[in-house]
Amino acid sequence: RKHLQNLQETTLALIKPDAIQQMGQIINSVHCNGFVIKQLRMCQLTTQDAQTFYKAHSGKPFYGALTTFMSSGPCVAMELVAEDAIKRWRLLLGPTCTEKAKVIAPSSLRAQFGTDGTKNACHGSDSTETAKLELAFFFVDRTLGSCARMRNCTLC
Ligand code: PPS
Repeated sequence: RKHLQNLQETTLALIKPDAIQQMGQIINSVHCNGFVIKQLRMCQLTTQDAQTFYKAHSGKPFYGALTTFMSSGPCVAMELVAEDAIKRWRLLLGPTCTEKAKVIAPSSLRAQFGTDGTKNACHGSDSTETAKLELAFFFVDRTLGSCARMRNCTLC
């Protein structure tokens, strides 16, 4: 049946560096909106990690700002599971641009927790193919390191 096609779909959700102080409220929204968190990790990307993660956008005018911002502090990566998780998580995120989100989707996460076009609080995979790659990036590819402090951690 068509409406059951995306039952138990998974997606990669990120809490970006600008919204890390609001992670409690964001994770609460995750639960309240019916998503199950299958995996979660906090980590800080290097600039190179961010360039790899966003390589689909290399060459776009905002690529430098995006990768600098995404490596400026820790992120929380989550594997979310729900029916139609990809579409539903992006709906909860609201429009990419925070200013637009505040106007057309005031209860969205970006409207609530974003600041501007760069600092927009959260990310979500845009397709099943992307979700697979992005989940592998955070949860399979061990080059990212194994602790929250990431590379060059002297504590572990
Ligand atoms: S595009 O060209 O339509 O594919 O781009 P878009 O989907 O709007 O955005 C892709 C990701 O780039 C981020 N972005 C920016 N970052 C920093 N500065 C500026 N000006 C900027 N414009 C877009 C945007 O937040 C998207 O990031 P993710 O993490 O995928 O949401």
